[in-house]
Amino acid sequence: MSLPKPHGGKLIQAFDPNYDLTGIEKEISMDAIALSDLELIGIGLFSPLTGFLGKADYESVVEKMRLADGAVWSIPVTLPVSEKNAKELAAGEKFKLVYDGDVYGVITVSEWYEPDLSKEAREVYKTEELAHPGVKRLFERGPVYVAGDIILVKKPGKGVAEDVWFEPKDTRALFEEKGWKTVVGFQTRNPVHRAHEYIQKAALETVDGLFLNPLVGETKSDDIPADVRLRSYRVLLENYYPKDRTQLAVYPAAMRYAGPREAIFHAIARKNFGCTHFIVGRDHAGVGNYYGTYDAQHIFSHFTEEELGIKPLFFEHSFYCHKCEGMASDKTCPHSKEDRVILSGTKVREMLRNGELPPSTFSRKEVVEVLIEGMKEKETV
Ligand code: ADX
Repeated sequence: MSLPKPHGGKLIQAFDPNYDLTGIEKEISMDAIALSDLELIGIGLFSPLTGFLGKADYESVVEKMRLADGAVWSIPVTLPVSEKNAKELAAGEKFKLVYDGDVYGVITVSEWYEPDLSKEAREVYKTEELAHPGVKRLFERGPVYVAGDIILVKKPGKGVAEDVWFEPKDTRALFEEKGWKTVVGFQTRNPVHRAHEYIQKAALETVDGLFLNPLVGETKSDDIPADVRLRSYRVLLENYYPKDRTQLAVYPAAMRYAGPREAIFHAIARKNFGCTHFIVGRDHAGVGNYYGTYDAQHIFSHFTEEELGIKPLFFEHSFYCHKCEGMASDKTCPHSKEDRVILSGTKVREMLRNGELPPSTFSRKEVVEVLIEGMKEKETV
């Protein structure tokens, strides 16, 4: 095997720090998600996208999980603006893309359109309920979408992830350098608990390298903050993972909580990073009870492996079993619920906030210590 080609065949590179901004007077102001999307389009993580989606692509993605040319794409990447802003738009014109007073990019507007947000919610998130964090954000973001190719002129800061912030061109070079022919990508928005570790290592038994790729873009407020999680990943890797077979790198995208659709999106981004395989476990990118436990695995059957270009590795819900004296899943463990250590994310966060230690059968003690410390710091800020 060799590293897969980027999605669409070519790694998009649209970063130009010397881009001449003279004469571009008008501005579009972005929210944090649009800023992150701008950057990820610019560095090719969202290849083949060269800009924010136009109407034909948008409608095709919403309805068919494909761009208008047929390429698999499951989540709309859009630039929302207010109706007032939209009145100033003219096709063919360039606009500065601004966040918090700084210019990060330029868009050449091709068109703008009013999306059917209810339909987008139903199709992409499978619900219109505002209790769903992705849907809530969708309706808050703005009623008009602006489309057009972008140039990234300035990269946002890397914060505490400086040493583990890689672009797809860097990770591809890194995998080549390490001689990895097969690499499994792992998405997470949580600390790595024993179940995560178990499925990562099970995958690592059959591939050359593990690409631990935690999402550090916007998440909902009760998820554990990225800086704390990063510390927990570092301490875990240091103590329990083989250094020459593991690479930590951040995935700087915003979390959509779109479950199955986001699993496809996550897999494509990891393919752009150069991964050959991608782990999809239980309720991948899910929230609440909006998706079935294995919906994010079933959705892969809509696409051929060829058109996806990255091989999903599916794992059952795993846990520590006292009778087995080890990690297991329904596939490997015959024992009853009472023998199994299963804690919900909400329960664990509650324990951590109260300074209570989740058992070492659930999470490594080094990880728990970092999390408790991190939660204390956040409370005192
Ligand atoms: S996610 O939103 O990033 O998917 P999380 O960080 O919890 O959330 O999950 C990371 C990956 O591990 C996902 O592929 C998820 O399906 C998988 N996963 C999480 N917990 C388990 C578990 N107990 N058993 C099997 N897979 C799991």
